[in-house]
Amino acid sequence: MTPAGDGLAARLGDRRPRVLVTLGSGLGALADDVADPTVVPFADAGLPAAGVPGHEGRFVAGRLHGAGVLVQQGRLHLYEGVGAAAVTACVRAAAAVGVDTFVVTNAAGGLRSTLRPGDLLCLTDHLNLTGHNPLAGLWPPPFVDMADAYDPGLRGQAHEAAARAGERLVDGVYAGVLGPAFETPAEVRMLRAMGADAVGMSTVAEVVAARAAGMRVLGLSLVTNVHRGTGAPTAHDEVLRVGREAGPRLAAVLRALLPRLA
Ligand code: HPA
Repeated sequence: MTPAGDGLAARLGDRRPRVLVTLGSGLGALADDVADPTVVPFADAGLPAAGVPGHEGRFVAGRLHGAGVLVQQGRLHLYEGVGAAAVTACVRAAAAVGVDTFVVTNAAGGLRSTLRPGDLLCLTDHLNLTGHNPLAGLWPPPFVDMADAYDPGLRGQAHEAAARAGERLVDGVYAGVLGPAFETPAEVRMLRAMGADAVGMSTVAEVVAARAAGMRVLGLSLVTNVHRGTGAPTAHDEVLRVGREAGPRLAAVLRALLPRLA
């Protein structure tokens, strides 16, 4: 096991969660629903702490709607100036303790004209435009297959769960960028031309690391703002507000999904 895996395993005792759920902006409250929780601050597991306000930087292990989960509250972003190794440390530690399913959530800016703030997106694929890859520098190079990186079976289950929860869930391609500046109007046009439906500053490095560890992945985005191509400003406050307002709807989809992942 990796040192981080050792640290996490020691803190988890005999708990062996199967599902890692990484909570994006506005979703932190979902960790409050974990029954019989064991809280492990990242630092206690030998993992780098998350520094952005509103990101707690801890795992909550326990049962969530019938599934044995490891909920990740808070994450590091490449825009904080850390490397891809730090950004993916939690995913790699989770894999080392036997987690085989990764449900990654995030806030994203909509690019497709039909998207509206508050929409929920099921990721079908991504564009890694961050300039980083967590596998770079490893030897021998892990030439990881990234076709169907977002597991088709889990995507189907997510759509069924959304239907049961009465929530609209649409498919889309996520462009992962470095940030932290939001996109210029020219970048918005470029990302659309590249085939992206939404853009965000997280997730892609974590998904590459999860695939390298053999985990199956489900990615869900909460569209907090939409780039209309008019050059209208993007405000971080707005991103956080819509994330908070729509977070419970993404949580409802997860509530309907998790019992089926048990
Ligand atoms: N761009 C990049 N990341 C984001 C956005 C955006 O518009 N909204 C939420 N995260």
